[in-house]
Amino acid sequence: MTETTAPFEPKPLGDGYFQDPLSVFARMRAESPVTSVITPEGQRAWLITRYEDVRRALADPRLSKDWRKLRAPGFVPDPSVGFLMAHMLNADPPDHTRLRRLVQKAFTPGRVAGLRPRIEAITASLLDAMAAARAADPAGDGVIDLITEFAFPLPMTVICELLGIPDGDREEFKTWSQVILSSTATFDEYRAAGGAMYQYFTRLLADKRAAPADDLLSALITARDSGDSLDEPELLAMIFLLLVAGHETTVNLIATGTLALLAHPSEFSRLRADPSLLPGAVEELLRFANPLNHATDRYAPEPLEVGGVMIPAGEPVLVVTSSANRDPARFPDPDRLDLGRDASGHVAFGHGIHYCVGAPLARLEGEIAFGGLLARFPGLSLAVDPAALRWRPSSLIHGLETLPVRLG
Ligand code: HEM
Repeated sequence: MTETTAPFEPKPLGDGYFQDPLSVFARMRAESPVTSVITPEGQRAWLITRYEDVRRALADPRLSKDWRKLRAPGFVPDPSVGFLMAHMLNADPPDHTRLRRLVQKAFTPGRVAGLRPRIEAITASLLDAMAAARAADPAGDGVIDLITEFAFPLPMTVICELLGIPDGDREEFKTWSQVILSSTATFDEYRAAGGAMYQYFTRLLADKRAAPADDLLSALITARDSGDSLDEPELLAMIFLLLVAGHETTVNLIATGTLALLAHPSEFSRLRADPSLLPGAVEELLRFANPLNHATDRYAPEPLEVGGVMIPAGEPVLVVTSSANRDPARFPDPDRLDLGRDASGHVAFGHGIHYCVGAPLARLEGEIAFGGLLARFPGLSLAVDPAALRWRPSSLIHGLETLPVRLG
């Protein structure tokens, strides 16, 4: 029996969503490109899945990011998680402009290029450690989790050094961050992780105020303490955003990008043979691997027509960047990884005023990571059946739980 569903009766995204979101979006793109769903968190949301609609929506000032304006008057958020909200991804101009301006200078391509030697050194030391562990255990199976050993510590170390956050608490931070971004964590788990982060950041700020240094955190504290550029909750939320956005996404570019290369051996060999392809390859890997499933929440204060569909006022809108990057109307043969293709115009970093501040850093990290990994371990291979790989239960993040590889 076939069941018919009213066109805009929200459909649950379903169990298969986490494990294969791109197939779910491909169906929507073909059949119902602007559609209402129930997210894994149990919320109703509108998804926009075609490239042209996605680009237009990301640049449309009628879609607001400041969903805090939707709250009933007098609403007070839970204090342990409320501080996580006051950042630029939840702000419209002029607050967004003010907050973004405070950090933009630190991430220009010129400033980021100056980090190249340090990122290369961090990459080399991680690759050395992987090679040393293999050499120390010649009888072992040579299998490592590429995320634990490489894809996570590389961007995490870089963003911590840039901000001026000491080593040590990174594993704990990884756990909190994964809970905050999980779509299946309970509210108590979310609150506990948020509370732990709050205490951690408060301590960090006190330490930094006592001993300022030449780092981004000290510069933000100076901005906070010497003028009215941002208040204390905004300062805490800024650190949270930079730290989470600075690693959660790049981890997945490196890990999922490596998986894509391993699944396309001819592209792997092509890149290894010709490192001059690296900058273009990173763009294609961003398009193909999609570290984020969709952009962060937006909503329309007034009813808004998108692709012939009327989205009601106040309902959450998710602009599905990963779907746009696989739209055959924009990228021919979109499910084929082709490191030589012109992938410019992909929306993995978003578009419009919220376009990723960290894009130059992420690109450089990707280039150095893929270049280093392929040069050092040309015999790299997947150590498990691809069907055994599991994806994280997050609506936003498109990332593997682990990536077992054999170093070769
Ligand atoms: C491969 C890595 C990365 C990807 C795929 C990525 C993706 C994105 C996307 C799609 C947005 C826009 C979200 C929206 O409009 O809702 C964004 C914004 C942002 N990203 Fe990234 N990002 C990456 C790396 C980084 C890094 C390394 C940083 C460093 C701090 C960073 C910091 C930010 C910030 C602060 C914003 C907010 C910008 C604003 O609201 O104006 N990202 N990112």
